[in-house]
Amino acid sequence: MAEHIDKVLCDEYIDKRVTVRGWIYRKRRMGKLIFVVLRDATNIIQAVVEERKIGEEKFKLLDKTGVESSLILTGKVRKEQRAPTGYEIDVDSVEIIGTSYNFPITKDKSDDFLLDNRHLWVRSREMNAILKIRDTVFGAIHEYFRENGYCESHGPMFVTGAVEGGSTLFEVPYFGKKAYLTQSSQFYLETLIFSLEKVYTIAPSFRAEKSRTRRHLTEYWHAEAEAAWYHNEDMMRDEEELIVYMIQRLIEERKRELQILNRDIDFLKSIEKPFKRMKYEELIRFAQSKGIDIKYGDDLGADEETAITKHFDGPVFVTHYPIEIKPFYHRPDPENPRVVLCHDLLAPEGYGEIIGGGERIYKLEVLLRRMEEEGLNPEDYYWYVDLRRYGSVPHAGFGLGVERFIWWLAGLSHIKYAIPYPRTIRRTRP
Ligand code: 4AD
Ligand code: MG
Repeated sequence: MAEHIDKVLCDEYIDKRVTVRGWIYRKRRMGKLIFVVLRDATNIIQAVVEERKIGEEKFKLLDKTGVESSLILTGKVRKEQRAPTGYEIDVDSVEIIGTSYNFPITKDKSDDFLLDNRHLWVRSREMNAILKIRDTVFGAIHEYFRENGYCESHGPMFVTGAVEGGSTLFEVPYFGKKAYLTQSSQFYLETLIFSLEKVYTIAPSFRAEKSRTRRHLTEYWHAEAEAAWYHNEDMMRDEEELIVYMIQRLIEERKRELQILNRDIDFLKSIEKPFKRMKYEELIRFAQSKGIDIKYGDDLGADEETAITKHFDGPVFVTHYPIEIKPFYHRPDPENPRVVLCHDLLAPEGYGEIIGGGERIYKLEVLLRRMEEEGLNPEDYYWYVDLRRYGSVPHAGFGLGVERFIWWLAGLSHIKYAIPYPRTIRRTRP
């Protein structure tokens, strides 16, 4: 009997007869030999198939069928320096399960072609590595929050109001009325802290972003938290712990995948808490000193974020933004009400914002005044306003764009590689 292997082959298997199942990654015929590199979820493995061992007929079929055919191979494992992983299977039995001819993805295909064929491209080694990193990231977020007293809960995806301003709302018909796809679960998490105190969610958020940048998706996964009795600084402390925890977990669990993506692991190891903190006004001065064209009061666009964060050697919290460039719910700083008690976390190396968060207004009259200033109708937000009527407490929260984090952490060139099926201004398929 051969042992079925679904782990990465190692020394332990030398001279053992094993069975592996997978897909042809590469194949090369040399006379009466076929070299197959088979891939499965774990890795790739080279196998040598000799005609005399499997018979002429099977050999011909294997020779004909192409890349991405599914096979079950059985044979003895040996060390082989020239094989891509240092091991090779000397095959004595082949089962062809699903043939594949003319697999459309070949080398030097355009980016658009790969996106149209994302359903097949997810099989690539790069995407496999990214998807595993993504798996660890989602797991780590849950672990961190659960170990730190946060309770998981959920807001709805169909909503009736904006959180982050009206310009990026997706409107959907809703039984003769209008609804929107949510931009953030924040307001619902705020309601839930009055029951659970510390809550988090991982859910999709939707932004009708007209911008075509390396960092915008129209649908992304949003890890959000909200905590009663927290101030701005308390929240930032949890966030830097979460970021460092995720990086640690990735280095433990996904070193091989990070290497496949050529990520500098020593750089990731160098990231320590506490992160640097900078007020918005300091950031503007810093940017100006680097020759970046920006002035006090400007919001940071994608280009500015890239230019500024190229000069950072780790993530940086930027706090105290001018009140005009942040949404109405941020708490004005009692010491200088022209700025709000908020923070963005900017990733280094040209990546930019991965978290937005801050302290919320908890006094009824302040919230009503800010809504009036922003031209919002309190009726539309009656339930949000109610929270300030019945036992309000100071509280803070944040939202981490999970793909933004993966994009930076894995050192990807575009955010669309950080999610299996990216949705952008131009793409809703596959
Ligand atoms: O800064 P944002 O808009 O803040 C909020 O939505 C708050 N309500 C979050 C909260 O406090 N609970 O979005 C938060 C994060 C950004 O920092 C970014 O990482 C990500 O969400 N994000 C996007 N990611 C991908 N594509 C987009 N179009 C994104 N827009 C925001
Ligand atoms: Mg933001």
